[in-house]
Amino acid sequence: MSTATLEQPPAEAAPIESFTVTFLIRRFDPDVDTEPRWQDFDVEMYPTDRVLDALHKIKWEQDGSLTFRRSCAHGICGSDAMRINGRNRLACKTLIKDLDISKPIYVEAIKGLPLEKDLIVDMEPFFASYREVQPFLQPKTAAAPGKERVQSVAERARFDDTTKCILCAACTSSCPVFWTDGQYFGPAAIVNAHRFIFDSRDDEAKVRLDILNDKEGVWRCRTTFNCTEACPRGIEVTKAIAEVKQAVMRGKP
Ligand code: SF4
Ligand code: F3S
Ligand code: FES
Repeated sequence: MSTATLEQPPAEAAPIESFTVTFLIRRFDPDVDTEPRWQDFDVEMYPTDRVLDALHKIKWEQDGSLTFRRSCAHGICGSDAMRINGRNRLACKTLIKDLDISKPIYVEAIKGLPLEKDLIVDMEPFFASYREVQPFLQPKTAAAPGKERVQSVAERARFDDTTKCILCAACTSSCPVFWTDGQYFGPAAIVNAHRFIFDSRDDEAKVRLDILNDKEGVWRCRTTFNCTEACPRGIEVTKAIAEVKQAVMRGKP
């Protein structure tokens, strides 16, 4: 007699239920609106959908004029930072199941930058500050032909955290100093300065430290921590700013 047991067919997984979620989106069309206005949309969603999926559904099925930026849809390009329920997040990284759907979900453009249309702001002031801190490697001497610029693990670790920035502006546009004074360089520019100031292969740290010692530089930071909380890459933004402040006082990294 055979001792082999018959395999049981796997139990059928319960179907995942969809549900209706209400989104309140702050709309602004410069051609017709004098002020932004809230518009509500009901969208059929699954718990693992993201806010970006909801925006796509609205745009493709309900109102093609809804305007927002996105590209990678996977938390890499940094183009879809927006305020979701009052907090800066990437729409492509915000799951519906992590939000309270018993109430409408509020979606609006990030603050502190000029509003262009719906969820799109003019990013030029943000990138102007970024460019000002010279975010590129500037060694004084050329590397020996065929040789790498050698860097120890410890040297690399000094700026590892700040290499993760995707320039989404979630930090800068959550900073109250930046809201009240668009002149402040803002945390993202300082993070990107940090990335090169503490790079042992770079020779222009002093130039960047002088730039950030300006009245609109690091000293405007009031250690509010909004930037650290907002960063979708988990960068310790306020800590990086504090390290740059210390380097400014030392006059070197
Ligand atoms: Fe975005 Fe974080 Fe870079 Fe700020 S530091 S721009 S929040 S990735
Ligand atoms: Fe602003 Fe962040 Fe400093 S929120 S005040 S840059 S700690
Ligand atoms: Fe690229 Fe969200 S779409 S980060």
